[in-house]
Amino acid sequence: MKRTHTCGELTKKDLQKEVVLCGWVHTRRDHGGKIFVDLRDRYGITQSVFDPSHNKQAHETAQHLGREWVIQITGHVRLRPEGMTNSKIVTGEVEVLCDNLQVLDQAETPPFEVDDRTIPSEDLRLLHRYLDLRRPTMQQRLLIRHKAAQAAREYLSSQNFMEIETPMLVRTTPGGARVFKTPSRVHPGKFFALPESPQTYKQLLMISGCDRYFQLARCMRDEDLRADRQPEFTQIDLEMSFVEEKDVQNIIEGMIKHIYKKVINTDVQIPFQRMTYHDAMNKYGSDKPDLRFGLEFVDVTETVKHSDFGVFKSIADKKGKIFCLNAKGASKFSRTEIEELIEIAKLYKLPGLAWMKVIGKNTLEGSIVKYFQANIQAQLITETNAQEGDLLLFAADDWEKAATALGQVRLAVGKKLNLIKDEYKFCWVIDFPMYEWNEEINNWQAKHHIFTHPKEEDMDKLETAPGEVRAKAYDCVLNGVELGGGSIRINRKDIQARVLHVIGLEYEDAEKRFDFMFRAFKYGVPPHGGIAIGFDRFVALMCGLNDIREVIAFPRDKASTNPLDGSPQEWTPEFLKELHLKLDIVKK
Ligand code: AMO
Repeated sequence: MKRTHTCGELTKKDLQKEVVLCGWVHTRRDHGGKIFVDLRDRYGITQSVFDPSHNKQAHETAQHLGREWVIQITGHVRLRPEGMTNSKIVTGEVEVLCDNLQVLDQAETPPFEVDDRTIPSEDLRLLHRYLDLRRPTMQQRLLIRHKAAQAAREYLSSQNFMEIETPMLVRTTPGGARVFKTPSRVHPGKFFALPESPQTYKQLLMISGCDRYFQLARCMRDEDLRADRQPEFTQIDLEMSFVEEKDVQNIIEGMIKHIYKKVINTDVQIPFQRMTYHDAMNKYGSDKPDLRFGLEFVDVTETVKHSDFGVFKSIADKKGKIFCLNAKGASKFSRTEIEELIEIAKLYKLPGLAWMKVIGKNTLEGSIVKYFQANIQAQLITETNAQEGDLLLFAADDWEKAATALGQVRLAVGKKLNLIKDEYKFCWVIDFPMYEWNEEINNWQAKHHIFTHPKEEDMDKLETAPGEVRAKAYDCVLNGVELGGGSIRINRKDIQARVLHVIGLEYEDAEKRFDFMFRAFKYGVPPHGGIAIGFDRFVALMCGLNDIREVIAFPRDKASTNPLDGSPQEWTPEFLKELHLKLDIVKK
């Protein structure tokens, strides 16, 4: 070892010891003859002193040290002089008086300071990610990620799960996400898909009798990026045999509780709250509700359909919905502030947002109030629990549109009124619809995926009312973010055939498309189910962050490129030749 200690461990108990430290020059200060160098590594910072009266040669070399040079020092631990201690760091009471200095490598002046106080632009951070990662905050995040992965492995292993790797060069599978493809050199004209998740393989592992599988799985999806999406990401992916929804959820709750305790010493209350998809939409306008604050909607359709307000009446007549959000204490919002909320509703395809202010005891104010008879006003006030100072916001449209738009308005109001508490609010959203109607293809499509099992009690509606069939599918939600999702899978051919028929796919055709999967299904399939937790989102939220790039060592930028390595790169003629390909780029 080139060192006896790290830069984060020397304290008063090490006084007089001879030590050897290695690290990067964090700062160098010349104080009237003596030179002070803060030496940094992953573990912390230690102050070293070069005193010409103690060692002339070491002092001479120290004069030339630049930021981020890599050095090795040998010296003795001593107390810092009175008044010079730093209580913020572990090593703050001591310093190392240097006897010897070795420069292990020089560094060019870095493009930004390796310091948490000044965060450079994102482009620069990604281009020089190795410098960005030297910052203590980034080191801390990587460590938390590592510990969370270890704790997940520890918990799942204790519950009899086996960690099994699945292939990265695969057949395209019915996952829904767009996949990356890579040409085969050995089989000209053929290609591999990169897995958008290990879904099919983990089901095959259940057919293989593995009973309980997990993997910290790398997944690749060719989709547009957002703060919580990367083309390459990681899942804590698992699958279990002979289980129902609750069993999978119990494992996840136990795992999350274990990880939070182990990594950030936080107690998570289990079981998590459970909410049906319909309740989540009706109350919060989202299938990933943020439960850190209230502001639940009230369905006022039945009340306002008898008013003289034409918009509400016609929507109620068309079987649409009118939801009301009581923004408690928000009657103080200015016109401009209300306009901003209306703009959010419009962004989510609503023509507008109606509103009323509660100005006195039981008195409503606003341009539309005159269309509501006194008894309807009174009923509205009661139903929404409106009090002086409140602002009532109304969204009217077909059910999903009205709920979704008001859900976004709710989030904005929650932020504006500072209602969002600093806490972890987990919940399960359950009973998702089995199918959703796709306007573009004018057909039903699976909401989760085609192997998801319908709820037993809804099976008889598969042929008659597919839109009403609920699935054995569930999402794990934290603070308004979908952490993970999963389902119980179909294990019988007759049910699979009926489920496929709804989306216009006959079993025999599906068998041709997904032949390897269906072949396996002939040989005895245990009832099984599973889930995948987005590990990047999981770690980011645990660190109180929204952007998953903050917890990924080498992420991509918003354009899906990686400034660090310059990928994706141009195809060269040699490249193409090797793959037996000619390039003909079709401009869109
Ligand atoms: P799903 O597609 O819902 O389910 O993915 C599970 C979780 O993975 C995370 N996730 C992402 N994280 C970062 N970047 C992305 N591009 C990205 N896409 C998804 C989310 C999401 O909740 N095979 C099924 C699971 C199952 O049924 O068992 C699946 O992959 O947190």
